[in-house]
Amino acid sequence: MNLLHALLLPLTLTLTWLYALTTRTAPPRNKRITLLIAHPDDEAMFFSPTLLALTKPHLNNTLSVICLSTGNADGIGHIRKHELVASCARLGVARERVQSIDHPELQDQMHSPWPSSTIARVLRERHEVLPDVLITFDERGVSGHPNHISCLRGAQEWVLGLSEAAGVELWMLGTVGVVRKYLFVLDCVVQAVLGGGRGGAGGKGAGWFVSTVGEVRVAREAMVSDHRSQMRWFRWGWIGLSRYMVVNGLERG
Ligand SMILES: *[C@@H]1O[C@H](CO)[C@@H](O)[C@H](O)[C@H]1NC(C)=O
Repeated sequence: MNLLHALLLPLTLTLTWLYALTTRTAPPRNKRITLLIAHPDDEAMFFSPTLLALTKPHLNNTLSVICLSTGNADGIGHIRKHELVASCARLGVARERVQSIDHPELQDQMHSPWPSSTIARVLRERHEVLPDVLITFDERGVSGHPNHISCLRGAQEWVLGLSEAAGVELWMLGTVGVVRKYLFVLDCVVQAVLGGGRGGAGGKGAGWFVSTVGEVRVAREAMVSDHRSQMRWFRWGWIGLSRYMVVNGLERG
């Protein structure tokens, strides 16, 4: 009986993980995809399952990352923008396709939203060729950070301003409640039951991506080794327990 108890958690985790890996969405192929984030480390803390799924070389996707700030709230933006490039490279995005923006209206801060028109202009100027898919936060921004939510508002303004024929799809990372947030791989069951990418807002799913054990290790390294300036003790709670390190559900905007 004691042996059974001891095995229950590892067994549940393993079965959940296997189940999730067989039912997750197959990633798209041959697409140009831009990930829009607010701060260096968003790509590793929130979007790593998505990036690792989409950047597999045989899929022939072209991934770009646009980070709207250098994360200069503590005056170390010049370090953080290099950390971003290293982390993205580890997650499969070519270094030359990673850009961080340093704009007076888009500075890392908690007190006010960024102007959507400025973000839309950045997106227009930074895309010589339109992407097929633009991925960013949803209206709750995972942590509710105003800069995350501004990413969505700016992305919406830009995409709505394009003609239908441009065909740019907007995918938003679904925000889940606080309990689901810390279920690690167990949240895959909830994600699978809700179906597609639905993250709670009842939108249309774009897909859900699940990392393998090896991929979770890669994402962990992106935080621990690449975003060294951000590693404080409390980050380990996120890295060790957050479902965003293992599973991402995406909704269509
Ligand atoms: C790879 O994707 C690009 C579009 O991004 C496409 O033009 C090209 O034909 C694709 N290559 C292969 C081998 O499918």
